Amino acid sequence: ERKMKREKFGSRLGFILISAGCAIGLGNVWRFPYITGEYGGAAFVLIYLFFLLVLGLPIMVSEFLIGRHSRANTARAYQKLAPGTHWRWVGRMGVLAGFLILSYYSVVAGWTLEYIFEALTNGFSGKTPDEFISSFQTFSSNPWRPAIWLILFLLGTHFIIVKGVEKGIERVSKFIMPVLLVMVVGIAIFSLTLKTTLDDGTVRTGLQGLKVYLTPDMSGITVQKFLQVSLDAMSQLFFSLSVSMGIMITYGSYVKKDVNLNKAVSQIEIMDTGVAFLAGMMIIPAVFVFSGLDGMSAGPGLMFVSLPNVFFRMGMAGRIVGLLFFLLAGFAALTSCISVLESIAANCMELFHTERKKTTGVLSIIY
Ligand code: PFF
Repeated sequence: ERKMKREKFGSRLGFILISAGCAIGLGNVWRFPYITGEYGGAAFVLIYLFFLLVLGLPIMVSEFLIGRHSRANTARAYQKLAPGTHWRWVGRMGVLAGFLILSYYSVVAGWTLEYIFEALTNGFSGKTPDEFISSFQTFSSNPWRPAIWLILFLLGTHFIIVKGVEKGIERVSKFIMPVLLVMVVGIAIFSLTLKTTLDDGTVRTGLQGLKVYLTPDMSGITVQKFLQVSLDAMSQLFFSLSVSMGIMITYGSYVKKDVNLNKAVSQIEIMDTGVAFLAGMMIIPAVFVFSGLDGMSAGPGLMFVSLPNVFFRMGMAGRIVGLLFFLLAGFAALTSCISVLESIAANCMELFHTERKKTTGVLSIIY
């Protein structure tokens, strides 16, 4: 058996930013705000925070530990630590889950490129709200346009991973993540300054929207509804933290021995939750100002229909913020796609004893 040298992260900061980059993605900027909006705001956020503490922290620490101790990837880590047990299936299922997630995640990631392109070419100007809905439907059901964006997106991911862990992924994350954090804060503040006067003279402001976002609405709560919210909060948590897909196991195997994992996990999860919370602050007040309470519960279309409808009808300032928003979403998606693909590639390299370039090439082609 040919022994391959295990790659390593260059620094503790790199490790934290990469893991945060993996966790922070469309789950934060797209999924979290629309689910929170559908549930009417802060009640969902509170339940989410509860599960973050009782499940999120211990699970992520465990995955890093499994990686660190086994020095192996997902598929083999459980086998090495608990040989002969059924635990190995947990590892294999994780890799499969990552593979399946990436196949639709990268499509939505490709959509962000379409919006960046439209923002740059002013393609949204003069559209009515109905036209925003129909143009999204036309775009997403078009046979080739989303496919081209998807290919471009995957090519970007591919070229970063080919360069390796330290020189590719770590370098890109160290640049993207700080930029992303600054953009999130900036756009959230911008959303709070929005204001509109309705035909009947009432004024709606971003701060009122913030209040709607942050006031838990407990009316009409039944046991069944509570269970439903809890289930949705847990799915959102697992998705958002990228746990149980084995990615964090792979990353745990790249971390140097002297890094304190408890502390690192707290920092990663604070960043992940902070960005999700701020994404809610970017989107919910803005949509509330322009379309009221009904607008907030738009579902998955919140980011791709309601939000552009707000920003791109506001003139130059809105156009720039809209562009920045979709750049941010694209960056967030990119660092997550990198992680999924890296973890699958690392598993394949270990399993088939192939080298990095060939493995990533084959995987990218499959996608
Ligand atoms: N955590 C990412 C997000 O919130 O967008 C999505 C994700 C990445 C889920 C990788 C699962 C995964 F394996």
